[in-house]
Amino acid sequence: MTAPYALDDHALKELIAGELGAVRDRSLGLTTGVLDEDGLTAQVSPLMSPLVWDLAHVGNYEELWLLRAAAGTEPLRPEIDGLYDAFEHPRAERPTLPLLPPDEARAYLETVRARVLDTLGKARFDGDDPLTSGGFVYGMVVQHEHMHDETMLATHQLRRGAPALLDPVLPASPVEPSAAREVLVVAGPFVMGTSDDPWAYDNERPGHMVDLPAYYIDAEPVSNADYLAFMEAGGYDEPRWWTTKGWEWRNGSGKRAPAFWTREGGQWLRRRFGRVEPVPPAEAVQHVCWYEADAYARWAGKRLPTEAEWEKAAAWDPDANRARRYPWGDHYEPGRANLGQRALRPSEEGAYASGASAYGVRRMVGDVWEWTSSDFHGYEGFRSFPYKEYSEAFFGPDYKVLRGGSWATHPLAVRNTFRNWDYPIRRQIFTGFRCARDVR
Ligand code: AVJ
Ligand code: FE
Repeated sequence: MTAPYALDDHALKELIAGELGAVRDRSLGLTTGVLDEDGLTAQVSPLMSPLVWDLAHVGNYEELWLLRAAAGTEPLRPEIDGLYDAFEHPRAERPTLPLLPPDEARAYLETVRARVLDTLGKARFDGDDPLTSGGFVYGMVVQHEHMHDETMLATHQLRRGAPALLDPVLPASPVEPSAAREVLVVAGPFVMGTSDDPWAYDNERPGHMVDLPAYYIDAEPVSNADYLAFMEAGGYDEPRWWTTKGWEWRNGSGKRAPAFWTREGGQWLRRRFGRVEPVPPAEAVQHVCWYEADAYARWAGKRLPTEAEWEKAAAWDPDANRARRYPWGDHYEPGRANLGQRALRPSEEGAYASGASAYGVRRMVGDVWEWTSSDFHGYEGFRSFPYKEYSEAFFGPDYKVLRGGSWATHPLAVRNTFRNWDYPIRRQIFTGFRCARDVR
């Protein structure tokens, strides 16, 4: 896939039109393509929206940004704006709203999209308006829909009943064990964030120097086998591995294993998109909350990496003295990471040697989102753009930063500088972690 920069207007428009089509195919393949009306309007969990909400919401967002904001059009259906405003209605409440039924939602999406493709032809990306320059607002809308597709996958994972989604085999990547379990990242400055990636979000900006002392970081994400060792060592029963809040979460939730795991006949099984199967030992662990990741790290004699440590290990090329967009280089290549929902699962330890970062750290992008020890804050010089509710509204100590995307994340919706965030108790997202430690 072409990167969305250094393209003339014509090439950028072709890229955008193609990506708008691709993301819509993906959204329909997760909704009207696989579930009936009851499946689409059901509340699977108070943590999630009914799928039909996500579907109409991405269309409403597209209308707001690509038609009304970028092209100055009148609202198509002003009465529905409030329904699909994520800030007006928390997820738990969305099933009770008079949402568009699936066929109306689809028709609305088609109307919006036809007009968007019309205006795309006349758009100019070379002006000074930061909203349209470099195609930013189109990139924002494409990324937004991919994010909701990943959210819809989390809803599918929570659904009970017969499997709705096909379970393709992950294209094999040769398994070559990492040379060592940890990689040393030598002390020194690197550029964190970006000032020149045209489709980067406000929270990735501005690029700025950060000087870090040397540290070790795990060469690969923590596997199911690693995590089982923690469980079998009594990790959930030892308060010394847990922070005060983590121990409270452990006591209050009653959880003693990752989400979707059950024990049967002396064996750990997991439910994955409606299929129950033995837990594969070499796969990256997922569906653990921040408190579990943090406790595991302490048990292992380590800690979670800060997001600066994560980003330096993923992005910095010390020989070239510059940051890469993905761990292996500036352009996405499908053989180098498990991204884009090619299969409904993370890969196994030893995979994607060709996707290693300059420091030799593997599987940083794709597979599982990785918890970091950092709270979500704006970088020095942060400016909200184009709206406060994307990032700024979430800054503060309540959210932990996640990095690297998962198997469910589209390559356009993640890069080394990309920042995701969630509450430390959340487990329904496709999240695991890796550990780090100081050099003593
Ligand atoms: C960046 C994934 C935390 O899903 O809440 C979706 C993205 N923003 N619609 C979320 C988002 C607006 C956001 N995350
Ligand atoms: Fe949204």
